[in-house]
Amino acid sequence: MHLGIKAKQVGGVSLIVGLAVVMLSLLHVTFVARVLLEESRARGELLANTIFQRAKDVVPGQAEPYAALRADGGLRAILESSAFARNVTYAAICNVDGVAVAAWDPSREGNRLAPAGELDSLIAMRGLQQLLSIYSSGGETLEVRQPLLLGGAKFGTIRIGVSTLLVREEFSGELWLVGATGLVALLIAIVVSASFAQLILRPIHVIRGGLTRLGRGEFGVRLDLPQQDEFGELGSFFNAASAKLSADRSQLAGQKANLQSAVEHMEDEVAIFNPAGELLFANPAMLTTLPPEPLGRPVDDLLTDGHPYRDLVHATIREKQSRGPVSSAIPRATPGGGAGPAEGAERLVMAHAIKDRDQQMLGVMLVARDVQALGRVQSMLNYSRKLVALGRLSAGVAHEVKNPLNAMTIHLELLKQKLLSASGAGRRRPVAEDGGVGIATAGAPRAAGPLPAPVEPEAPRPDLGPALEHVRIIVGEIQRLDQVMQGFLKFTRSEDLKLQAISLSSLIDDVVRVIGPECTSAKVEVITDGLDRVPDISGDPTMLRQAFLNLALNAVQAMPTGGTLRVSAASARGRRVEIRVEDSGVGIKPEHLGRIFDLYFTTRKKGSGIGLSMVYRTVQLHDGEIEVQSTEGHGTTFRISLPQAP
Ligand SMILES: Nc1ncnc2c1ncn2[C@@H]1O[C@H](COP(=O)(O)OP(=O)(O)OP(=O)(O)O)[C@@H](O)[C@H]1O
Ligand SMILES: [Mg+2]
Repeated sequence: MHLGIKAKQVGGVSLIVGLAVVMLSLLHVTFVARVLLEESRARGELLANTIFQRAKDVVPGQAEPYAALRADGGLRAILESSAFARNVTYAAICNVDGVAVAAWDPSREGNRLAPAGELDSLIAMRGLQQLLSIYSSGGETLEVRQPLLLGGAKFGTIRIGVSTLLVREEFSGELWLVGATGLVALLIAIVVSASFAQLILRPIHVIRGGLTRLGRGEFGVRLDLPQQDEFGELGSFFNAASAKLSADRSQLAGQKANLQSAVEHMEDEVAIFNPAGELLFANPAMLTTLPPEPLGRPVDDLLTDGHPYRDLVHATIREKQSRGPVSSAIPRATPGGGAGPAEGAERLVMAHAIKDRDQQMLGVMLVARDVQALGRVQSMLNYSRKLVALGRLSAGVAHEVKNPLNAMTIHLELLKQKLLSASGAGRRRPVAEDGGVGIATAGAPRAAGPLPAPVEPEAPRPDLGPALEHVRIIVGEIQRLDQVMQGFLKFTRSEDLKLQAISLSSLIDDVVRVIGPECTSAKVEVITDGLDRVPDISGDPTMLRQAFLNLALNAVQAMPTGGTLRVSAASARGRRVEIRVEDSGVGIKPEHLGRIFDLYFTTRKKGSGIGLSMVYRTVQLHDGEIEVQSTEGHGTTFRISLPQAP
């Protein structure tokens, strides 16, 4: 039988108290028995002495002392009074032969009194023996005796009978009291020890509750125990251990989630089988190859005969050795199987034998890699490398084109000046006045940077007007070419990302401040929502600021008659933040929707078509995603997802 601490404690205390009560009661009972017997003896002796004194007065000088005793009224009265003495059954004076000469009951006179033991011998016994004698079956009569002497010779005996039955009756009354007192003491002991146990064991219950909660996997379990005693110390240890456990658990949970997410997002097919060949785990890529609800089923049920996965799993279990990688063509759809790879698809398959420290097989991990996808990635990498090289080349060309463009602008300006002075109308204005910044003063072509604004030629003299008009057109075209070059350079320049944690709300606040005047004049209301409730994002602040500025400007430009620009954010799966930039503007025509991210695509008169391509490139560089939804006449929503800061 299993006993709790409380039951044991209560039982123990009750047992100790019970034993103590029994011992004390026994002592008390024997003491009471002795007292009762001694009281009886004292009463007997008193009676015997009284009889003796009376006899001493009656007998002297009497020829017939026995007759004198019998005839004495006083003596008779004393003998009869024995009926009223407690526990005394008789009183008599017997002659030396034991015949009653004077008795409490006159009818007994002349008869022999039955012989009886002495009360003194019972009183001399030890406590327990005494009790046993008192309680011996029918009880007995014991006597207190006193000899009567006449002239130095024994002439008779005073005999007082004391009944042990009567003593027993008196004693039983006491016994009830002792029993009741013992019982009450025992009950009090049980109640008190139970309350104490409750009080003492409370911290243990609290600790047990805490451990149960920890066992259930709760985080941050703390115990509130009084600090003064050992339990308080235990509570502090528990709290420290619980905090450490929670920290470890969250770290483990994070790692597990990362691992799970990594395995789930892997393009490789991954499956784990136990040594009996039953499937324990399959990632989503592998599940497409297997029939529905494959977990727990043997590999032979899951894959057709001759399937390379199946053969490899069997061979690995049999030989307890990792195998592969081997290149295999997937034969045909699996029995009742999922979509799976197309027939003939090529996979690089590996089977790892998972063993414990004693080299016992725990299972097999099967990994299958799509060779064609690998090839695709490889060719994309090559393509990207080529693009980068091409980008560098075209950036170099663009850079070189700018220098002759600058030179051409300067020489055109000089040509214009000469034409004007040749015509005599050459009231040369200061350079800064006619907008020809840097032309007269620079002296040499500028290496880069925006070209000067087109020069508005002075009112030409009628004969030079057409020539100056040509100059103006050439300057304007060069200017446009320069702008195209600028945009192209900006786009192809490989940006160095300077990643840092960015607060989205301060980034967007900054953007909103910049577009403030445009919003006011276009009557556009700007609403931001949830920006300060999302975690920081990881990014390059300058590039992201520019990207959101482009999106916001596009939105404002799409609302020429006013509207609402709403920028909101929320946390998304995979430690990402999703930002929405919504406007209630004109929307995008369905046929334009696929082209808006193309470089130089624009529908605006003064647009360059670079804004959204820069946004796209920035989002890509940040390992983010961008999508657009638009309904013509109702508005446009851009959704950008960016990674959270670590
Ligand atoms: N919020 C929007 N609402 C409607 N159309 C839009 C919106 N954003 C972009 N567009 C369309 O996409 C085109 C391309 O935008 P993009 O920002 O790349 O160039 P742009 O705004 O025309 O010129 P810029 O280079 O000066 O930004 C725009 O011309 C416009 O037609
Ligand atoms: Mg734009």
